Amino acid sequence: MTNFHIPDDALISVEKLQMHFPIKKGFLGRELGAVKAVDDVSFYIRKGETLGIVGESGSGKSTTARALLRAYEPTGGTIRFKDPEGNWHDLTHKSEAEMRQLRQYMQMIFQDPYASLNPRMTLLQLVSEPLVNNGITNKSELEDRVADLLIKVGLRPENMTRYPHAFSGGQRQRIGIARALALNPTFIAADESVSALDVSIAAQTINLLQDLQEQMGLTYLFITHDLSMVEHISDRIGVMYAGRLVEVADTASFFEQPLHPYSEALLSAIPIPDPKRARAKKRGLVKGEVADPANLPVGCAFASRCPHASELCHMSNPELTETAEGRFVRCHHSADLKLQGANYDQ
Ligand SMILES: Nc1ncnc2c1ncn2[C@@H]1O[C@H](COP(=O)(O)OP(=O)(O)O)[C@@H](O)[C@H]1O
Ligand SMILES: [Mg+2]
Repeated sequence: MTNFHIPDDALISVEKLQMHFPIKKGFLGRELGAVKAVDDVSFYIRKGETLGIVGESGSGKSTTARALLRAYEPTGGTIRFKDPEGNWHDLTHKSEAEMRQLRQYMQMIFQDPYASLNPRMTLLQLVSEPLVNNGITNKSELEDRVADLLIKVGLRPENMTRYPHAFSGGQRQRIGIARALALNPTFIAADESVSALDVSIAAQTINLLQDLQEQMGLTYLFITHDLSMVEHISDRIGVMYAGRLVEVADTASFFEQPLHPYSEALLSAIPIPDPKRARAKKRGLVKGEVADPANLPVGCAFASRCPHASELCHMSNPELTETAEGRFVRCHHSADLKLQGANYDQ
């Protein structure tokens, strides 16, 4: 069990999630160690909210999402999900058949709308695939359902017979969203879903996701390496570093007053359009190499890059601690630090 309270309106709770990939070598597959892609991740997501997860490439964001949807068998920890009837399910102990039932409520949208759509399938086939797999076979019912879904995501039903190559990147991402919505999910994990799109198309896609959230009461896990993307859509933000969550906060508190030195470093790297303010900021705060998840230090994984690290930080790995309601940080010294937020208005 976690050492914090999980709110009654939570839809998902993740407790001490671990996903370690064995490093094997040679003919006998001798195990040399493990890549600790996700080492200790605990959080909850409330029904109808968006939790943004940020962190550098390789910090374990995608692995967390995949383990959450049980695309991977987690090494340790507990994942619980509340179905639409309000019953909790421990996903870590579900059989494949039981998971198939629950997966209709839990969907994923991927980064690359080019790679994730089969180029030989029409729009109708692509969007109806999840429905067909779920036993809906009546042709006119399928066409009606697909037309509704296309309208929902801002695509034109008359284009149903066309193939993915006929659509732009932003439109393809909408096809991916329509597929994800086909079975009326309650939860969607979006993994870098807008990261490959132009800024204006990305903004439109984020607006679409927000409209859909409002209409359908959806709950989102929104993963990105780009902090400027996450501010607009997230109610709360979690920061990952080397397979661990190092901070969780509501979005405003996070941007105004981060509690973890790594969060401060991430915020200082957001590009600022006004050059006068940009000059006043300390840039490039994070120096040094990202911690290697195959070879984590005994202490805090950020210590070697942290300007505030003490001897304690190199010796002992801090726990994720709730410092105020809903405010979590993993740092020995956070109570004594006065860290710099994004300071947009100063
Ligand atoms: N299937 C896998 N086998 C071995 N290592 C993996 C696998 N998937 C991810 N990793 C490693 O786990 C770490 C976290 O990866 P990932 O979750 O993709 O990070 P992110 O999405 O934050 O960029 C990386 O070091 C990556 O190389
Ligand atoms: Mg990723």
